[in-house]
Amino acid sequence: MASLLVLIVVLVSSVGHLGTARREGPSDGKSLTSFEFSEGTLQQGNPLEFQHHRQLEQDAPSANATDTQAADKEAKKLAKKLGKKLWKAASEGNVKKVQKLIGRGASLKVRRGELKDTPLMISSANGHLEVVETLIDAGAGVNASDRDRRTALYKASFAGHLPIAEALLAAGAAVNKAKDARITPLWAAAHEGHAQVVNALLQAGALVDKATLEEVTPLWAAAQNGHVDVTELLLEAGADPNKTKNTGASPLLVASQNGHAPVVDALLEAGADPEAANAEGIAPLHSASVTIGNASVAVVGSLLDANATIDKPDNLGWTPLIWASSHGNLGTVGLLVERGANVTAVAVDGKTAADLVCECLNSEGDSSRAQCTPGGCELPQTSDRITELLK
Ligand SMILES: *[C@@H]1O[C@H](CO)[C@@H](O)[C@H](O)[C@H]1NC(C)=O
Ligand SMILES: *[C@@H]1O[C@H](CO)[C@@H](O)[C@H](O)[C@H]1NC(C)=O
Ligand SMILES: *[C@@H]1O[C@H](CO)[C@@H](O)[C@H](O)[C@H]1NC(C)=O
Ligand SMILES: *[C@@H]1O[C@H](CO)[C@@H](O)[C@H](O)[C@H]1NC(C)=O
Ligand SMILES: *[C@@H]1O[C@H](CO)[C@@H](O)[C@H](O)[C@H]1NC(C)=O
Ligand SMILES: *[C@@H]1O[C@H](CO)[C@@H](O)[C@H](O)[C@H]1NC(C)=O
Repeated sequence: MASLLVLIVVLVSSVGHLGTARREGPSDGKSLTSFEFSEGTLQQGNPLEFQHHRQLEQDAPSANATDTQAADKEAKKLAKKLGKKLWKAASEGNVKKVQKLIGRGASLKVRRGELKDTPLMISSANGHLEVVETLIDAGAGVNASDRDRRTALYKASFAGHLPIAEALLAAGAAVNKAKDARITPLWAAAHEGHAQVVNALLQAGALVDKATLEEVTPLWAAAQNGHVDVTELLLEAGADPNKTKNTGASPLLVASQNGHAPVVDALLEAGADPEAANAEGIAPLHSASVTIGNASVAVVGSLLDANATIDKPDNLGWTPLIWASSHGNLGTVGLLVERGANVTAVAVDGKTAADLVCECLNSEGDSSRAQCTPGGCELPQTSDRITELLK
């Protein structure tokens, strides 16, 4: 109701403004908007308008249609021109200007910028709630999508603008419409860790396990990035904790690798398989043993509590202890030994954990050893202390 009033006020004031322009004539042509300018042109004797009157008198319907077409074309051109201004005002969050331009007939469908956004998309991305509400009230298409098929809801979800996501959902925005590569608004919000937006999307019927082309679910994306609130929301909504990416990596594997202990605990509690290994036979325990720092100890402890097999070999025959030793991961070596890991276990080349201690120091340029960072092998006495532990 309030926005309708605003619309009327804007309409009345813009008509008044036009009246002024008409009286004064297009003397200041440069500063006139295209709307005002085209009105001026009509005043100067637009031949089409003249014809229009004559034909109206003659009551010739086919010619009338031609006139209407020409007038329509003119109106569309004007709406488009005003639409460009509307787009700019929408992107900047200038709600007054947006209202005024809508009142003057600006097109809501213009597309600008690298992504070919509509005014609704750009204001959603930029977090301008009042503009979004104004555009929705004016009838902007909530399901339109940009060059890469991102909708306004996708953009608000990605950026974490909760009230905007709610406004779009209330206006009937398609909750599962996906970006290229099948990334849904839920996936984007989960990946970015926007728990409240995730919650709103789930309430609105978002498909909880809708995965990307690489079969990455929203849960996997949240687990990878350590977003424990989002992980819990998705699990409560029935997300499958065992759903792997196309590489065979589970959410638990990626959370373990990245040392996200609270996420690991949430996944295990929800029944994630502690043993699930990827194509190389790398299980969560191997991944966690490679992670440097205290998080490694916490994750390895959780996995062992969930009965992960302590000496499970990967496809190369490496046990978690061998992995931890080769990365100089002192804390984890200590924990694994304490929990009964086999210290004489050997890799396929016959090397023991002791042989491999701090091997990462000598493997510069090997990307699989990229996690040999300070706190691991580079600590001065790490090598000696691990060798001691393994005796
Ligand atoms: C002229 O066209 C308009 C819109 O198409 C129509 O409503 C109107 O009846 C037509 N008038 C005549 C005189 O044909
Ligand atoms: C948007 O898409 C949803 C889901 O397909 C549909 O229910 C709704 O009617 C659409 N809204 C508009 C305005 O097209
Ligand atoms: C995950 O996989 C494990 C091992 O197959 C199974 O025992 C467990 O029930 C699965 N969890 C869920 C929630 O499906
Ligand atoms: C890691 O844990 C040790 C032992 O509990 C503690 O002294 C140390 O401060 C922790 N380091 C970090 C970075 O949390
Ligand atoms: C782990 O195994 C022990 C012994 O078999 C069993 O009592 C316990 O319930 C298991 N724990 C989990 C989390 O499966
Ligand atoms: C420990 O590993 C060695 C070498 O692979 C093996 O021979 C031995 O049986 C293992 N010990 C146990 C208790 O599994």
